[in-house]
Amino acid sequence: MKLKIAVLAGDGIGPEIMEQGVAVMSAVAEKFGHEVTYKDALCGAHAIDEVGNPFPEETFQTCMDADAVLFASVGDPKFDNDPTAKVRPEQGLLAMRKRLGLFANIRPVTTFDCLVHKSPLKDELVRGADFICIRELTGGMYFGEKKEGTEEAYDTNYYSRAEVERILRVGYQYARQRRHHLTVVDKANVLASSRLWRHVAQEMMKEYPDVETDFMYVDNASMRMIQEPRFFDVMVTENTFGDILTDEGSCITGSMGLLPSASTGEHTPVFEPIHGSWPQGKGLNIANPLAQILSVAMLYEYFGLKAEGELIRKAVNASLDKNVRTPEIQVEGGERYGTREVGQWIVKWIKEH
Ligand code: IPM
Ligand code: MN
Repeated sequence: MKLKIAVLAGDGIGPEIMEQGVAVMSAVAEKFGHEVTYKDALCGAHAIDEVGNPFPEETFQTCMDADAVLFASVGDPKFDNDPTAKVRPEQGLLAMRKRLGLFANIRPVTTFDCLVHKSPLKDELVRGADFICIRELTGGMYFGEKKEGTEEAYDTNYYSRAEVERILRVGYQYARQRRHHLTVVDKANVLASSRLWRHVAQEMMKEYPDVETDFMYVDNASMRMIQEPRFFDVMVTENTFGDILTDEGSCITGSMGLLPSASTGEHTPVFEPIHGSWPQGKGLNIANPLAQILSVAMLYEYFGLKAEGELIRKAVNASLDKNVRTPEIQVEGGERYGTREVGQWIVKWIKEH
């Protein structure tokens, strides 16, 4: 297969983990005879500094011309403490999602047996937890009408039936490929927008009698996720709730640096780690490249290339088994491996298997 990849490395640890992601992508391509070409493009703080726009037009065109976008992370502390900043790196991410029509954000919450002890939850609670959170990504409060003032301010949590329906369909499709259980997370006891979600879901569930649909309020869901994470198979929710719940989901596994994600919709799909740009780790060769590498696995799988994805997952598991790990998950007394060393070990493993 021929694949054109737009590479958006962004800020902080982004460029370092991206280097390893691309190396793994190329090793797999070579092995399976795929022709992959890459084009770098600016985004985030980096792009603000260079061209004054966190998602420049040229980057948008590069994304539109590509088959997939491999994205790392954006963000820089110099913007975080300045509420008066006119442009922010995060706006670049939101612009990318909106302009590429990426309404479905797929965030798998997977545990790795050998890392379960790193979880803040008890071993027996979290072991075997495996669910997918599907977050609506281009609607709700993030994009609704806003007013920003120093005396009053608001954000509007707008959803149309069509927006709700298309994301619920994605939820049902995933549920059908998994354990046939869909949890719709909302706040229908208070919010009108949530009542629309529930109304549409109650209509649609009749079309999917093979899937068990249940409904949960978001406050309850946030509790259930730590009390009984194995309850969930596929969870679907609106933009803001999904943002919050997926951070919770990523930390219960004990390994935030290992979780990839995919965003799909109308145009080019984007594959990216769930973690952020970790500015403190920048340039130190200590960031975990596995979430970026697993994002490459999701990318291959998106194009139906299952064996390619599987090989990457096996390589990642092998690296963990052999304690080839970055410092934050290394076992006591284990050897020191940096971002590059972990990436290179995985590339070598792929070549040899
Ligand atoms: C995420 C991030 C973004 C979001 C920020 C950086 C705008 O937290 O991808 O979850 O809130 O969507
Ligand atoms: Mn977030």
